[in-house]
Amino acid sequence: MSSHLEILTIDDFDLTGKTVFVRADMNSAIDPKSGKLLDHSRISEAAITVRELSRSKVVVGSHQGRVGGYDYVSLHEHAKALGEYVGRKVKFVEDVIGRAAMEEIRSLRDGDVLLLDNLRLAAEENFEFTIEAASNTHLVRRLSSVVDYCVLDSFPTAHRAHPSIVGFAKVRPTLAGRLVVKEVKALRNVQQVMKAPFVTVLGGAKISDRLEAMEALIEGGKADKILMTGLIALVFLRAVGKIKRPINIKDEERLIEKAGSIYSKYYERIELPEDLAILSGDSRVELPVEGVEDPSLVRDIGTNTVRRYVKVIKSAGTVFASGPPGVFEDDRFSFGTNEILQAVASSLGVTIVSGGHLSTALQKLNIKDWIDYVSTAGGALVMYLAGKRLPMFEALKASSELWRSKVA
Ligand code: 3PG
Repeated sequence: MSSHLEILTIDDFDLTGKTVFVRADMNSAIDPKSGKLLDHSRISEAAITVRELSRSKVVVGSHQGRVGGYDYVSLHEHAKALGEYVGRKVKFVEDVIGRAAMEEIRSLRDGDVLLLDNLRLAAEENFEFTIEAASNTHLVRRLSSVVDYCVLDSFPTAHRAHPSIVGFAKVRPTLAGRLVVKEVKALRNVQQVMKAPFVTVLGGAKISDRLEAMEALIEGGKADKILMTGLIALVFLRAVGKIKRPINIKDEERLIEKAGSIYSKYYERIELPEDLAILSGDSRVELPVEGVEDPSLVRDIGTNTVRRYVKVIKSAGTVFASGPPGVFEDDRFSFGTNEILQAVASSLGVTIVSGGHLSTALQKLNIKDWIDYVSTAGGALVMYLAGKRLPMFEALKASSELWRSKVA
């Protein structure tokens, strides 16, 4: 057993000839107009474990987007891309736990790889469960009737207690894949050299997760300053009354209330933008925050904010950036993201960049190698750094306790 990680890995069992369910995270950026994949980085990472399981029958599962979102798409294109990185054809079935999926899984031969469709098509995969309750979901009961092992390789989803993450631990030996082991080892090394002051640059669109993450980071002593960017900055600006009109996001009032209570508790650590860039006609126009009439037009942070944030980044002992400051895919609004990432890359502190979007932006700027650690994970990494217990690792530990005596 790989005891240094207290979990079982794919080295601990002979998986030859076995049917192995690999829970990957190929959740990728999607072009809102065409619905096509914009980035393959998580798919290429997922291929590492799949490639190694060349003598097993491999069933890969991943979610993509969230129900109702523009990026909630079928994994058809992912299958093609995965095949390119694995170096062999990846079959695809437009099903998750129905008859079609069961038949495809049963017909696999050694060396075959099958990708199931978006796991979130199965209703249960959109909810969180305890390990015990998840074992009883249809998803786990159906899949465990046709697979021998479960391999958890979706580090970016480590903070989700979804059935595909926690549900197999007590019914099938559940092992860590290469990506999970790689991320954990690299993060342990980075954590040993991290030093104060800790500066976090927070952006992106998953507001509820980010609010939870902020509190976790501050309470875990890992955020002396948080530089707010992206949509979450607008939520805080509304909470403090600097932006008056609604942003038009889901659950807006609840999020504003939560942001307000975090701000009143930790305002000395939280930096808010003083200017923003909006879409006006076809152009980028910068305005002081108080001059923004319609927050739904905001696409980036402004130049004065960038200058102020860059100074804070330069004084950091550790910089952690999670979520893009603006709509960097659009050249008119890439300024904030580019300048912040350039500052992170040239910082003399320890630097960690998290999530698929920022990883793509770093690649575009050709500065990925300058960062100490770039993780595929977004929200999961924040929770990991904040020292929170992550359901995926709880499941891996539970599996290790139950199955370690069977290790070859
Ligand atoms: C991520 O991109 O952070 C992970 O894939 C998890 O996605 P989720 O926040 O939709 O669960």
